[in-house]
Order: sequence, then C-alpha cells, then structure tokens
Amino acid sequence: MNQPDLLDELLSCRLDHGQRKVEPCCVVIFGASGDLAARKLIPALYHLHRELPEPVRIVGVARGERSDDQWRAELKTSLDRHSRTQPVDAAAWDAFSPCLSYCRGDVTDAEAFGRLRRHLERIAPAPQNRRLLFYLAISPSQFGVTSRQLEASGFLDRSESGEGWQRVVIEKPFGHDLASARRLNAELTRHLHERQLFRIDHYLGKETVQNIMLFRFSNAIFEQLWNRQAIDHVQITVGEKAGVGARGAFYEEVGALRDIVQNHLLQVLALIAMEPPSRLETESIRDEKIKLLHAIRPFTPAEVGSQVVRGQYGPGEIDGQAVPGYRAEPRVAPDSQVETFVALRLAIDNWRWAGVPFFLRSGKRLAQSASEIRIQFRPAPHVLFAAECGPRLEPNSLTLRLQPNEGISLHFNGKVPGSTMEIRPVRMRFSYDAEFGAYTPEAYERLLLEAMAGDPTLFIRRDEVEASWSVVDPIRDAWAGQSLAGTAIYPAGTWGPAAAEELLAATGHAWRNPGPGQ
Ligand code: BG6
Repeated sequence: MNQPDLLDELLSCRLDHGQRKVEPCCVVIFGASGDLAARKLIPALYHLHRELPEPVRIVGVARGERSDDQWRAELKTSLDRHSRTQPVDAAAWDAFSPCLSYCRGDVTDAEAFGRLRRHLERIAPAPQNRRLLFYLAISPSQFGVTSRQLEASGFLDRSESGEGWQRVVIEKPFGHDLASARRLNAELTRHLHERQLFRIDHYLGKETVQNIMLFRFSNAIFEQLWNRQAIDHVQITVGEKAGVGARGAFYEEVGALRDIVQNHLLQVLALIAMEPPSRLETESIRDEKIKLLHAIRPFTPAEVGSQVVRGQYGPGEIDGQAVPGYRAEPRVAPDSQVETFVALRLAIDNWRWAGVPFFLRSGKRLAQSASEIRIQFRPAPHVLFAAECGPRLEPNSLTLRLQPNEGISLHFNGKVPGSTMEIRPVRMRFSYDAEFGAYTPEAYERLLLEAMAGDPTLFIRRDEVEASWSVVDPIRDAWAGQSLAGTAIYPAGTWGPAAAEELLAATGHAWRNPGPGQ
C-alpha cells in the first residue's frame, strides 16, 4: 500500500465503539472474586453494556460458594467505588445486573467445567453460549491448568470450524524470563490456537497510546522529522505516586523491571519508534513492532552497570503526607533488594535511529503520577541570538502526554513581548478534554470490546513477549546477587535516585519531569 492509501485507511478507520461488530456472546471470568474483576473488568463491562447493541452474558467463576445475587451485590459495592462515572446510574445497573451470574468452581477440578457448561446452556441460547470469551483473571501459575481443562471439557474448538468462537484472555506477567515465557506459550498453544489467545497489556487500550500510531502516520509534518537527522533523543516516563500498597508480595517477585519495563514501556517504545506498517492490519502492525524490539541493542553486563539504574523508595512525603519506605510495606522483606524504580538508556540499531538514545524510566512513589513521551529535537545549528539569550537555546520538543490530562504539546522558542530581544520557551498545546470533552474510556473497556469483536491488534503476540524478555533478561542476570547500593534508595516523593540524573547528564541531557498538567 502506498502512503496516500495508508493515510486514507487510517483516516477513514473509525475507532469508535459503534463500528465494532460484537455478536451476542458470554464472557466467563475465572477469578470472579478477585481484585481485577472488581476494579477493572466489571466496571468496564458495565460501561460497555450501555453501548453494545446486543446483550452480553457475564459469568463469574471462583471457588467460594455464593449466589448470583450475592455476587451482584459484591460487584455493586465495588462498582460504586471504581466506576469512572459517579454515581452509578441506578437504571443502568438494573439493566446490567441481570446479565451477571455466578458459577462456583475450582480450575483444577474437572467437574467444575461440566457445571460451567450446564450453567452456560441455562443462561444463554445457542449460538450465544458457544461464543465464549474466557478471561483468566487468576494467577499465571493457573493459566496452563485452566486452558487444559477448557480443552478437555470440549470448550475450545481449535479449528474454529464449529458454531461460535472461543477466545482466552490472559494478563501479564507472561512468564518471568524468556525461558519461562517460552514454556508458557508452548503450554497454552497446545490447547488453543495462537489467534484464540489474547494477551493483555492494558497500556495498549489507553486512548493516548493508540493515538501514537495515528498521530505519527497521519501527520506528514511530524513523520518527516521522525528520525536521527532531526531527533536528539527520546524520553519515556511512566511515573506513579502510589507505592506498592497491598501488592507487596507480588512486587517482591516482580519488581519494576518486570512489572512495567518489560511490557508497558517497551510497547510504548515500539509504537513510537517502529516503521510505518504497510497495511493497517493486525499482523502488519505487530510485524513492525517486533522488528523494532529486535533492533534494540542487547545489553552486555558492563553496559547494564553504566546504562541501567535501579532504585527503591525509602520513607518520604507524598502530597504533604509522610509515607513509609518500600521495606516497611506489608509483605515486603525488611532487607528487600527489589527495585521500585528503573531508568535505562537504550540504543536502537537501525537506519532510522542509529545514534539516538532512548531514555526510559518508571517508578513507584515518584513526585508525580504522570506518563509521557518527550521527543527532543536537535538544537538549532547556529544560535543567532547568543548575545541576547546566551549560547544555549532551549531545544524544540514534542510531548505526548499519556495520562493524566492527555494531550500533545509542542515546545519552541518565542519572543517575549517588549522592546528587548528576550527569548523564552513557549508551547502549543492540544488537550483531549478541551477538544473532545471529558470522555476517557478505561483501557479495559476498549480491550474487552476488541476481544469480543475478535480483533487482536491491541494484544501482544507470542514473539513480542519473547523479544521483550530478551531485552530485560540481561539486566536481571547482571543484577543477580548484587545488593542495592545505599545510594539507590530514593526518598518517596522525588524523581528517583541521583544516578538516574547522572545517566542523562553523562550524554549532556536532563530528564524533563512531568508536571501534574500537560
Ligand atoms: C500495572 C502494574 O500493569 O500497571 C502496576 O502491575 C501499575 O504496578 C499499573 O501500577 C499502572 O497502570 P496505570 O494504568 O495506572 O498507568
């Protein structure tokens, strides 16, 4: 496809919900009593319910004994806390709640799957009860057994030749390193076809992350500049003020590198840096992402020492409140060596990006909850106004703000009004809210919709998972057995350890710390 055709396709591609064809189907949530179901899945399905033309039946599966009404009451309580629209609309809930039903079951028990079949036959007619989206909101250690049981009970039609369809959605972490990810992928694809497997990275469901591709490939002015000739370096920050909260035990196993860098940060990087896909089709887009991930230069152990910084939050202050350090959080070892902050410098070995450093960082208990991408352009070749403003002008930059206060801003230099030639950085700003109103669907709404519609574009393909582990595994290997230095402990409420600043200073750069607004 040539460039004008691709642009036409992009521009005419309506990404709003109304364009997605969702057939009447059933969503089966394994892990129905868990946090993910209560905080994300049910609120997302509640909002989708109002927009979908056809009713979707939602079946919760968990080990505990409870009636449909008890489950509904639990969900209503959590919806009141987690719905993005408040208060929950009573009429909308009354229309939605009959779609919810509960089926007790343990994924290791074959009989539970027989019960589930009978339950589905009771609550939905054919072929709706053969169009099944299984959401595994359970521990990754149970992904294998659940898919085995689903296949053994005849739920999964690998050939997809029969009536209906079956898909399985899984949540990260997809393994804890390359070898375990390969084992998991091999096990899952023994029971279902790769195209039936939907691996979620919820960052891909965020409006602003989806907009990266549209922004790049539908605006010729930026695409001309999207390369090493014009770009000096790129910064991607995913910052959170929150600590690990009740997830201490999980975090002790995972750490920031596996929790955020391996997935969210590398996915955002792939979208920012990949080549234009030849078609706006799932596999074309995924092929370009994977090419980019493969072009990331692997770290040697020595480079991990000089190009990757880890840190852990100590006690400090967030919004004027004293907060404990990571080691004092519940279910965290008092001498934990787990990182809650990572900053790294990556090189991408291809013609577009040779010599352009990419700086990525993420951390808990930072100064702001904000995620953004900053593209910094090369400095002006000759500073005409050196006498007025000094030898250095602020370089131009483009900031894609992922959250909150989503938008895009372009920073350039302008003249301060008056009789002097004073120069100051100014910006041009596009804000989602100002342009489109405050409509920000949750990432899970979009992703559930896509999974029901059977479009895997916003999900992670097997080789993407494996390529991402190949990037982070050498870092973990180099860290193994090395204690965190005392200087790695940063006070909560700051932007991480000093070494993260030095990482950029070494090449004459500095982080741009996101503010609360754009
Ligand atoms: C999750 C991580 O994947 O993403 C969490 O496990 C993190 O640790 C969360 O807090 C951040 O997501 P968001 O959408 O709040 O930026």
